[in-house]
Amino acid sequence: MLRTHNNGELRLENVNQDVELVGWVAKKRNLGSLVFIDLRDRYGLTQLIFDESFNNITSEIKNEYIIKVKGVVNERKDYNNDLSTGQIEVIVKDVEIINNAAQTPLIINDKTDALEDTRMEYRYLDLRRPIMQKNLMTRYKITKTIRNYLDNLEFIDIETPILTSSTPEGARDYVVPSRIHEKSFYALPQSPQLFKQLLMVAGFERYYQIVKCFRDEDLRADRQPEFTQVDIETSFLSQEEIQEIIEGLFTKVMKDVLDIDIKTPFRKISYYDAMNNYGSDKPDLRYDLLLEDISQLVNNTEFSVFNDVLNNNGVIKALIIKDKANDYSRKKIDQLQELAKKNHAHGLAWIKIENNKLNGPIAKFFNDDQTDTLINELNLNNNDLMLIVADKWENTCNSLGALRIELAKQLSLFDNNKFEFCWVVDWPLFEYDEEEKRYYAAHHPFTRPAVGQETSFYQNPQEAMAQAYDIVLNGYEIGGGSLRIYDQEMQKHMFEVLGFNDEEIQKQFGFFVNAFKYGTPPHGGIALGLDRIAMILTNSNSIRDVIAFPKNASATCPLTKAPKPLAQSQLDELNIKFGKNND
Ligand code: AMO
Ligand code: AMP
Repeated sequence: MLRTHNNGELRLENVNQDVELVGWVAKKRNLGSLVFIDLRDRYGLTQLIFDESFNNITSEIKNEYIIKVKGVVNERKDYNNDLSTGQIEVIVKDVEIINNAAQTPLIINDKTDALEDTRMEYRYLDLRRPIMQKNLMTRYKITKTIRNYLDNLEFIDIETPILTSSTPEGARDYVVPSRIHEKSFYALPQSPQLFKQLLMVAGFERYYQIVKCFRDEDLRADRQPEFTQVDIETSFLSQEEIQEIIEGLFTKVMKDVLDIDIKTPFRKISYYDAMNNYGSDKPDLRYDLLLEDISQLVNNTEFSVFNDVLNNNGVIKALIIKDKANDYSRKKIDQLQELAKKNHAHGLAWIKIENNKLNGPIAKFFNDDQTDTLINELNLNNNDLMLIVADKWENTCNSLGALRIELAKQLSLFDNNKFEFCWVVDWPLFEYDEEEKRYYAAHHPFTRPAVGQETSFYQNPQEAMAQAYDIVLNGYEIGGGSLRIYDQEMQKHMFEVLGFNDEEIQKQFGFFVNAFKYGTPPHGGIALGLDRIAMILTNSNSIRDVIAFPKNASATCPLTKAPKPLAQSQLDELNIKFGKNND
């Protein structure tokens, strides 16, 4: 046995006990004749004290060496309340170096200034940092709670293939060439969507899987090329019943992992209201700062931009920031304008209220009556700032939605310890792509149209609504699901609206549509983004901080250097040839 206790364990009641500890040297300090070492393992830190009789060996010991000590527990003179073991120290009687360590390329500490690529290249050292250990343990707690919860509700975990054919979730596929079948490729699943539906046809009724999904899309702080879903599918349940199961799941997760009681049922917000009021289909409900529609208040000013937009069915909306106008210099507003433009606004107008008058570049377009109306209707006071976008509804909402998030950060409008869940419901079934002049499925092509629209969606796709729902936490989409089509004809119609002809439907999805012939139950489900949930619950800034071995922003792994070129012999075996010079 290497140890009698771990390094997070010893307390005052252990004083005078003989103990044996093992761990990594986190810090060494020489204080005159005494040497102090903080010994670390996954459970915590213990302070060791060596007297001068150990000078020979302590001078050899460096950070990250693994040592084993025997000693006696002693009460500290000054308690360190930041440490669970902060009331004691161990006076060392014997020490042994178990392994030495080279100087690490990053400091093993919660605070690090190492570049993210360095952290990923030496991920095993980065993961030694207590905060990363804590993140991964929290992630494990989340999955364990979810498994227990679903198990209690008679869900069964069934694995589905990784080498498969394309699933249309809307991203690009990762593909794997087949050696045996020349010119043929497997696709890695963007989700187990088709398989979980086939498991409902098979009669399992309640399926779940904690599963890797693969999507070749542009990466962001909350996106990875391979990520993990808690994938769920059920038969014979309504949308409300599925939502109730998920609310129960989060109630349990929040309690078990963070000891927080959350309120259910979660708020339900329609897609339209979410966009219209929060400028986002994943609204952060921790703070208000709603988008105000001011179209009717400014519809007769002299400002041609406003008039043009209103004449073209656009809208004019504003964010009103109370009592902060003085904090917003020209430069700061210009930065906000850049953000609005990145989100497809043509400009950002602003008004400050000063001496009960409007101030700013567009103030001159308002006469006295219009000024009074604006101030009275919106309850404006001195030092209020209005940021205004006039544009098509989508652009107005999206750009002000992006500003809302940025302003909330700048003005510290939210509390990191608050968790606001909601459902976003009543989604359109399709999105129309103006450039390609075609429809795309807003969720995916297996989503059932709203009640009463089961056949009319085919004639009137732009109007059709879906039985789909997203779950949102603190401004992140942490899950999405829907009730599914279970009628063969309706599924074929759906593919037709999306531009597939009969032959293409058979070729790509024949196996799936055919299955619907044999008694398919009404079914529906959801997939939760486990990485995002772990990111939010650990208060991390990036999804990469809750994944042991993530990819960086350019989708490479700095540790293994994947993706890498293949050896010529492997290419030959796969019958893959590149351009002229094979490069
Ligand atoms: P969807 O595409 O909405 O639905 O995905 C479900 C959830 O997975 C998470 N997610 C991601 N997380 C990290 N990196 C990514 N690249 C990424 N992409 C998605 C999000 C998202 O809400 N088959 C359907 C589910 C269903 O209908 O049952 C699906 O995959 O949190
Ligand atoms: P201009 O007259 O084009 O110089 O615009 C005057 C102000 O109106 C500038 O601050 C612009 O950013 C702003 N602006 C221009 N277009 C829009 C728009 N579509 N919505 C809101 N503000 C706009």
